[in-house]
Amino acid sequence: MSEIKTIGVLTSGGDAPGMNAAVRAVVRTGIYYGFKVLGIRKGYEGLLNGDMEEMTLRSVGDIIHRGGTILQTARSAEFNTEAGVKKAISIAKVFGIDALIVIGGDGSYRGARDLSNLGLTTMCIPGTIDNDIASTEYTIGFDTALNTVQDAIDKIRDTAYSHERCSVLEVMGRRAGYIALNVAISGGAEAAILPEKEFDIDRDIIKPIIEGRNRGKKHYLVIIAEGVGGAVEIAKYIEEKTDIKTRATILGHIQRGGSPTVYDRVMASRMGAHAVQLLKDGFRNRVVSLQNGAITDFEINEALSMKKSIDEKMVELNKILAL
Ligand code: F6P
Repeated sequence: MSEIKTIGVLTSGGDAPGMNAAVRAVVRTGIYYGFKVLGIRKGYEGLLNGDMEEMTLRSVGDIIHRGGTILQTARSAEFNTEAGVKKAISIAKVFGIDALIVIGGDGSYRGARDLSNLGLTTMCIPGTIDNDIASTEYTIGFDTALNTVQDAIDKIRDTAYSHERCSVLEVMGRRAGYIALNVAISGGAEAAILPEKEFDIDRDIIKPIIEGRNRGKKHYLVIIAEGVGGAVEIAKYIEEKTDIKTRATILGHIQRGGSPTVYDRVMASRMGAHAVQLLKDGFRNRVVSLQNGAITDFEINEALSMKKSIDEKMVELNKILAL
């Protein structure tokens, strides 16, 4: 096995709060162990363009508290082709990159797997607000996004209370309902509509609202996961069926930004350091993961074959607490 001297690091896919803390951990742990670390700008796109520079201890100073990613990110169409992956391998050779650390979501993991299949050592760190990577219980950015959504819910609740209204809130999560389910519980929602569960608007939204009203409720919150969508239409339907004034809010990209929470900073620091430690210890092509509170790792193909399901107990809990 060839010796690793130079590590490239990039952030890919949607940005997530805590990515900077992960980059910082990779750079500082890397330098601590004697590696040369190259920071690649704009994800795989930057790798294809050779857009990179050597990182120093100071180049990651004053970033741990910052949202977004100082390395910037992109979704590269060219890299998603066989020719693109081959080109990325050849550019990595030009710059002497022996191993690549990718911080991103499962699309970014698949890119790393393709590179590893062609012989470039890769390590992945889970970074996405969606928490939808099967091989890990936690992805960097999730906690910050939840807190951002919760802050918005608390504000919307003030208005819903004052006007005795129903609020329908659409939250991000791509095809997964982890953000939606968690904020439904933390925000005290009457209903949470998740892509993982088939849904009937009368049974799952209208009925709990009317039953709540019969028990004396005066304002209501319905959380819709982006993977289901249709918040505006759902709000209209609720108003028509119940005569309760209903407004829809689609939170959008506000959920992706902001200073990372302590949890995200610590998790990103631990995961970033773990990826470098794996390289130092001679491991290749692995993904960093949180399992039962411990940082661990899996082989990349094994990780990509895993499935993640929604926590049914939490789905049930939300229904009980909405009573
Ligand atoms: O993966 C993070 C995420 O914010 C998803 O929740 C959302 O579906 C998607 O990215 C939006 O992507 P873009 O910022 O490219 O519109």
